[in-house]
Amino acid sequence: MKSFEAKPWILPQPVLIIGTYDKDGKPNAMNAAWGGQWDMREIMISLGSHATTDNLALNPEFTVAFANVETMVAADYVGIVSGRNVPDKVEKTGWTIEKAPHVNAPVFTDFPLTMECRVAQKIDETATGYYMVAEIVNVLCKEEYLAEDGYPNVEKMGLITFDPVHHNYIQLGNSVGNAFSIGKQLK
Ligand SMILES: Cc1cc2nc3c(=O)[nH]c(=O)nc-3n(C[C@H](O)[C@H](O)[C@H](O)COP(=O)(O)O)c2cc1C
Repeated sequence: MKSFEAKPWILPQPVLIIGTYDKDGKPNAMNAAWGGQWDMREIMISLGSHATTDNLALNPEFTVAFANVETMVAADYVGIVSGRNVPDKVEKTGWTIEKAPHVNAPVFTDFPLTMECRVAQKIDETATGYYMVAEIVNVLCKEEYLAEDGYPNVEKMGLITFDPVHHNYIQLGNSVGNAFSIGKQLK
């Protein structure tokens, strides 16, 4: 086995698009890979100092959309350009925007699945950012991505994950087994 020392290589990493409103109600978006589930009703994201952070200081509500192959180019774009410097950043994405039904934040309706969230806790806050724990207020799924049982069909979404080793986006593949079940054959 080859050693690589300490690397931020948790795999797979999500491609989360954080949607916020600025002080004038203008939508902004940023890309975040360092995030995940924190608790049953909470997520966490490691957040640096960004226009998004400025917006969250004024209004702690936001959305998190899960990027897929169709939204990938603009999802990357919002991760390399800041709303602090590019006022028409979100216009450039071409995404359709609606106000979220349960929080004061934009929903980018091009994405299959979106969480509506509210900041619950800021851990180790400094001028360079903090670890954000946020309540999941609601989850929105586009109708076309629902499975026959009425729940989101993740396999259908073409979601992408961030590869921190080579800085690539990789498309999630097919379902290969039932969790909490397939392992029973070794019981
Ligand atoms: C693949 C990718 C992953 C990123 N992950 C994070 C992250 O987890 N946390 C973070 O603070 N910034 C992350 N960024 C950087 C922000 O998205 C970037 O600084 C963005 O321009 C901030 O936008 P804003 O200033 O308009 O809010 C990531 C960028 C990319 C491209």
